[in-house]
Amino acid sequence: MAVYNLNVNGKKVTVDVEPDMPLLWVIRDFAGLKGTKFGCGMALCGACTIHLNGQPVRSCQTPVSSLAKNAKITTIEGISDGVQLHAVQQAWIEEQVPQCGYCQSGQIMSAMALLKTTPDPSDADIDNAMSGNLCRCGTYDRIRKAIHRAADLSKTSSNSTQKVGGK
Ligand code: FES
Ligand code: FES
Repeated sequence: MAVYNLNVNGKKVTVDVEPDMPLLWVIRDFAGLKGTKFGCGMALCGACTIHLNGQPVRSCQTPVSSLAKNAKITTIEGISDGVQLHAVQQAWIEEQVPQCGYCQSGQIMSAMALLKTTPDPSDADIDNAMSGNLCRCGTYDRIRKAIHRAADLSKTSSNSTQKVGGK
């Protein structure tokens, strides 16, 4: 066992765990954030996608001991500022993307990473960037539409997004 001081969504989280514990379990079982999902456990499905210093990573294949000191972990729970929905969340609502919802936090984390580097992606850009995120419900068309919509929302003002809680 070893002690790790982590920065999860801007908050300090201290855990005493085995060094090879995947970040996914640290997030879910120790930080108590259940939005990040376990799918395959083999970096194949994208359900466990989080951001490490703004980059999308598969948390199921990221041992907690591999994190650099001061690494910033962002999960689906940390993408809005607590007041205004993130444009990607807003677009996901407007396009009614989720079906069962299981894959969707990983999808959103990957979509955010794409929009950061490619603010106005083509269909091909979207298909390339999202190819590692699998959806057993087949919501791919709505995901693509929602990413285009999020790109449009980001071009306009943040006022176009709903307050958290739908108010
Ligand atoms: S659970 Fe990590 S990629 Fe599938
Ligand atoms: S919405 Fe069900 S797995 Fe994607």
